[in-house]
Amino acid sequence: MKLNELALFGGDPVRKTPFFPWPRVVDGQKEQLIDTLINDSWGIGSESIKLLEENFAMFHDAKNCIAVNTGTNALWVALKAAGVSSGDEVIIPPYTFIATVTAVLMAHATPVFVDIDENTFNIDPNLIESAITERTKVIIPVHIGGNPADMESIISIADKHNIKIIEDAAQAHGAEWDGKKVGALHKGGIFSFQSSKNMSAGEGGAIISNDNDFMDACFAYYNCGRHRDGDWYEHHIIGGNHRMSAMAASLLLPQFQTIEHDMRTRDKNRQKLDQVLSEMGLEVTHRYKNVTRESNHLYLLRYKAENFNNISRESFFNAMRAEGVYTYAGYKPLYREDIFQGKGNDFPWLKKINYSNISCPVTEQIADYQSIWLTQNHLLGDESDINDIINAFEKVTMTLKNHPEKFDN
Ligand SMILES: Cc1ncc(COP(=O)(O)O)c(C=O)c1O
Repeated sequence: MKLNELALFGGDPVRKTPFFPWPRVVDGQKEQLIDTLINDSWGIGSESIKLLEENFAMFHDAKNCIAVNTGTNALWVALKAAGVSSGDEVIIPPYTFIATVTAVLMAHATPVFVDIDENTFNIDPNLIESAITERTKVIIPVHIGGNPADMESIISIADKHNIKIIEDAAQAHGAEWDGKKVGALHKGGIFSFQSSKNMSAGEGGAIISNDNDFMDACFAYYNCGRHRDGDWYEHHIIGGNHRMSAMAASLLLPQFQTIEHDMRTRDKNRQKLDQVLSEMGLEVTHRYKNVTRESNHLYLLRYKAENFNNISRESFFNAMRAEGVYTYAGYKPLYREDIFQGKGNDFPWLKKINYSNISCPVTEQIADYQSIWLTQNHLLGDESDINDIINAFEKVTMTLKNHPEKFDN
């Protein structure tokens, strides 16, 4: 490819049109929606919700599924059903979406942050044991970007200390650990169907598990404290109304026909990008040896400024965006949020913990300087789309290497 002037400096951008649109309408959705509208109930008791739960449980190698209105609420419900309440501690990585910590706080528990592994961006199992106390109730591994966390190590630690694992698989539809889909590898797990996710209903979530008692407890917490076989106005605990709408279920059902093809396309394109971009000096993420499939919800890379004349990641982003490929930094360390810095009174039990002392160096290095994110829809394009992405990376990285004088830093 002839390297023209960067679009950032007035050249022609590599890409002038948007990438693969997401979410997109798939075959059967309109018919399913209309069928539900006319022939089904629209909420609890709906056939489409029941079908979604059966299909999602089957798709994810689990016995049971409960369809929920958001992933955040699914996680709160799962934590409550796992027995989390005030005074308990829950171990989470600080490199995740805010919802992971929101659910812990909504359950009146204390989040304990454990740093991540720089190669996978997932919680580092080697650091978990020293964070366990007699108050630790749950560990939440987040399968970040759809790349499963090291479940073998985490399960062995959890079992040794009699702690439950609730997987945050919000981004990991279809991902596998040792040939088995994630989510029900220990006590249970949750998924999100929010707009950006690989299966999307605009909003939505799910809990899966193989444990009937746990799922009965989830049922009560997600459905106003009701028992499965109790009366409508019989409430044993305080639960919310976190039920999914039948319209969301109807948007999701036809996606069981498309997800396998989407996953294969992302896998193929990801492999190509991994190979070419690592040759350009970017660091690709790795998977643990037992990961048999990733869902590639996010394409995650590391930018090391030393490979590019110490030019900052921000300059790289500006140049990529000008070429028409939107790359960005993603998460910040969660413990830097105001609520952990003593601001706000909503969670008084946090006041006695000094989160400003916390340092998770790997998370900080990745979040502050290194992470590069590309959303999953970029991996769904055809060959010419992927070539545009590669050409943009090549144009930008070559200029960073060969013409550092063009950049301010
Ligand atoms: C890692 C993670 N956990 C939890 C959630 C919460 O899901 P939702 O947005 O459906 O509430 C999300 C999604 O946004 C997520 O990415």
